[in-house]
Amino acid sequence: MSEAVETDLYGALGGEAALRQLVARFYALMDELPEAYVIRKLHQDDLGSAREKLFEYFSGWLGGPPLYESKYGHPRMRARHMPFAIGVAERDAWLLCMAQAFDETLPPGPARDAFWERVVALADWMRNREG
Ligand code: HEM
Repeated sequence: MSEAVETDLYGALGGEAALRQLVARFYALMDELPEAYVIRKLHQDDLGSAREKLFEYFSGWLGGPPLYESKYGHPRMRARHMPFAIGVAERDAWLLCMAQAFDETLPPGPARDAFWERVVALADWMRNREG
C-alpha cells in the first residue's frame, strides 16, 4: 500500500460524494436483502438518520472532515452499540450489505482494499456477545 493511500484514504476513495453513495447503497441493501433482516429489525423504520451518521463517521475515520465528532463528541462507536446485541450473525449480515455496497459503488484498487480491511476489523470489534 502506498503512503498516499495510507495517509489520505478519504481523498483516495473519492471524498464526500463517494462516501455518500456508499452509505446510501449500504442502507438500501439492509432494507432489501432478506439475509439482512436480522439487523434491519434493530434499526428505526426510517434509516435516514443512520445513513447520515454513518457518512459523518466514515468521513472523520478515513481522515476527512471529522463531521460526526464535531456534532456528537467522541465517537465511542463500540459503546454506542452496546444497546444492540451484536454477535457473529449480526456482524456478518452488516458486512454482507457493506461488501455488496463496496462492490457496487467504489472502484477497485488499493484504497478500496485498505478501507475494506479496516471496516472488517471494526465490524468484528463491534461484537458484544458470544455466538
Ligand atoms: C464497522 C462497523 C460499524 C460501524 C462503523 C457502525 C456505525 C454506526 C453509526 C455511526 C451509528 C449511529 C450512532 C449514533 O446514534 O450516533 C450506528 C447505529 C447503529 N448501528 Fe452500527 N455500525 C457498525 C456495525 C454495526 C453492526 C455489526 C450492527 C449490527 C446489529 C449495527 C447496528 C446498529 C444499530 C441498530 C444502530 C442504531 C440505528 C438507529 O438509530 O436506528 N452496527 N452504527
